Amino acid sequence: MATSFPLQPLEIMAKNHAILSTTGFLILLPVGVLVARYARTFTPVYVVIPSPTWISGIWFPVHFVVQLFLSGPVIFAAWYYGWKTSDVLGLGHFLDPHQKMGLALLILYVLQLLLGLFTHFIKLRSPFGPGTRSPQNYFHVFLGLVILVLAAEQVHYGLYIEWAFATGGLHVVPMAAKRAWIALIVIFWVLYLAGLALVPRQFSQEKRARHGTPTKSDEIGLQNNHSGDVQSA
Ligand code: HEM
Ligand code: HEM
Repeated sequence: MATSFPLQPLEIMAKNHAILSTTGFLILLPVGVLVARYARTFTPVYVVIPSPTWISGIWFPVHFVVQLFLSGPVIFAAWYYGWKTSDVLGLGHFLDPHQKMGLALLILYVLQLLLGLFTHFIKLRSPFGPGTRSPQNYFHVFLGLVILVLAAEQVHYGLYIEWAFATGGLHVVPMAAKRAWIALIVIFWVLYLAGLALVPRQFSQEKRARHGTPTKSDEIGLQNNHSGDVQSA
């Protein structure tokens, strides 16, 4: 966004918003997702509660910390700068497409946090049989990926439309920022899709755990109650 004269205070605020929201949604959240996708089949498990046996893979606290404690502050700081920018410009709130989608993404992020906590800590009996995932688990995965797709579009809209609209085009968005956008999208989706190759390994580990094979160091965390019911963490 640099040309011959420095950014104005309002542009600095919008730039802070852009950098923080991109970092939160297109770097930190994807890192947390990739940790879940890759690490769960390889990282060791630990016992959370001995009886009923409740074990969890190391991947889980890492996913949890990245999605909540690292991403959360960055995403909320981004919101603060976005809101302030709209305020200073007197544009009103949640009126144009970027503002509305921004609100939707924040709500979805908070819902996803709650769903993640619910999925992990409250085990519903799965309709697919003992020791299998409940629909809530699948929904958490689905919603997580939807958030990343919407965030990709939101950052694109910010770079190509909202910046010029809100700042009046005093400084243009540098090509480097636009290239960074495409690079982040391609890197994440290539890694995520490649990581799906681990799904058969993951399912076979879970199947073995369901049949009572002792958990090996590379198995994912599963919860086992007194009736021998084992549920995925
Ligand atoms: C996932 C990424 C993003 C999210 C979730 C997001 C969300 C938001 C939100 C919630 C607001 C305030 C809306 C309001 O108060 O009504 C906002 C404002 C704004 N955003 Fe973003 N944003 C993102 C990315 C970007 C990017 C990359 C840019 C620019 C390069 C950008 C430029 C702006 C500007 C200039 C404003 C203030 C003007 C306005 O309210 O329309 N945003 N954004
Ligand atoms: C408090 C925060 C969170 C908790 C406790 C949590 C918990 C979990 C759990 C238990 C799973 C495993 C689901 C299963 O396969 O059975 C999981 C996977 C996943 N989570 Fe989260 N999550 C949280 C936040 C998020 C957020 C904010 C996102 C948004 C991007 C997200 C995206 C995903 C995705 C995409 C997967 C599936 C990865 C894969 O195996 O392919 N999570 N999470």
